[in-house]
Amino acid sequence: MSDTASAQKAVSGLEGIAAGETALSTVGKEGLDLTYRGYSIRDLAEQASFEEVIYLLLYGKLPARADLDRYRSLLISLRDLPTPLRVILEQLPPTANPVDVLRTGCSALGTLEPEEDGRDAHAIANRLCASFPSMLLYWFHFHRNGRRIETRAEAHPTVAEQFLYLLHGVPPSALHARALDTAFILHAEHEFNASTFTCRVIISTLSDSYSAITGGIGALRGPLHGGADEGAMKLLERFSSPDEAEVGIRKMLAKKEKILGFGHRVYKHGDPRAPIIKGLAKQLAEEAGDRRLFPIAERIEKLLYSEKGLYPNIDFYSALAYHFLGIPTFLFTPLFVIARTSGWSAHILEQRAHNRLIRPVAVYTGPAPRPFPAIDQRS
Ligand code: COA
Repeated sequence: MSDTASAQKAVSGLEGIAAGETALSTVGKEGLDLTYRGYSIRDLAEQASFEEVIYLLLYGKLPARADLDRYRSLLISLRDLPTPLRVILEQLPPTANPVDVLRTGCSALGTLEPEEDGRDAHAIANRLCASFPSMLLYWFHFHRNGRRIETRAEAHPTVAEQFLYLLHGVPPSALHARALDTAFILHAEHEFNASTFTCRVIISTLSDSYSAITGGIGALRGPLHGGADEGAMKLLERFSSPDEAEVGIRKMLAKKEKILGFGHRVYKHGDPRAPIIKGLAKQLAEEAGDRRLFPIAERIEKLLYSEKGLYPNIDFYSALAYHFLGIPTFLFTPLFVIARTSGWSAHILEQRAHNRLIRPVAVYTGPAPRPFPAIDQRS
């Protein structure tokens, strides 16, 4: 046991521990809004596009109009999938978890277009941001409808438009494209969350970008992180009215069950992204003529606050927004992967620029040193 470790007390879940520095976002800092490189999430959600946010995160400044046009064209040109990757996607089972499809697709692309071959981390970030929707929906349509879709969809220049077009086969309305674009912006970056920290740990060993992002996807997959929106949707769909939801949620709370889409490690007084996505979910619910799910969601929100002092996090109303965009529930978490790839990549660049191996210590709780027993003396 090292002296340092023995003198320390482990902090459960590393809560409140500053594990490094970042210039990318402010999360839960007293008196500060959530910002990406100093820009308020509210301003970005209202006025920026997802491509501007990717550019901001990766290149450190907002693009001028000509930069943005060039950047959009670059991303469109990177939407195609190489043939061996299509073959791999075809071989994956139709029953696969779609997050695993992206995790596998990322890893496979790392063998086909490796970083060592003169591609830098910016190039890989752009390639993954542009091709994750293609991978997911190529796999989806091949197994659902036996169709090998064309993924470039040049007539649909934004990632949100491409995604909705490839999914539904018809161009999205302006409201739908804007709603998904905003959801992507809200999910793009969030400081040292579990998946981003995973990426930074991997990159700190001087590993490559694909390995880091593959690891990030693995960490995002769990229901305590990126998987919460799917859990929230399944929960909402269980109830037929707000009253029924109230009875059901009270029972869950009595059994100490977690309600997915509520609570946050950092935001104890509300997630600043939640009201923005709630506003969009409301608009989409009205457009869809919904009289069931949105009122149920609001009742659960009220109850969780009065009973536990808990606020919805970004995932709760994202689930409803995605639902009203006609996106199947099992594709919700992959949307998070598509959005967060920009933030992960920016952290990869930042970690590399000031790298030191991330290697904390553990407080040892095992047995004291003892003699090694011969095999016939063991019970
Ligand atoms: N439903 C019910 N109770 C919850 C809760 C939830 N979603 N989130 C936290 N709590 C309760 C815990 O049961 C605990 O209560 P207790 O002190 O009576 O035991 C208390 O609040 C603290 O919770 P804890 O899990 O220790 O907080 P944390 O900071 O470790 O966890 C989360 C943060 C996000 C993991 C947690 O809030 C959670 O599991 N939420 C649901 C999953 C989710 O939505 N994740 C997406 C995050 S963006």
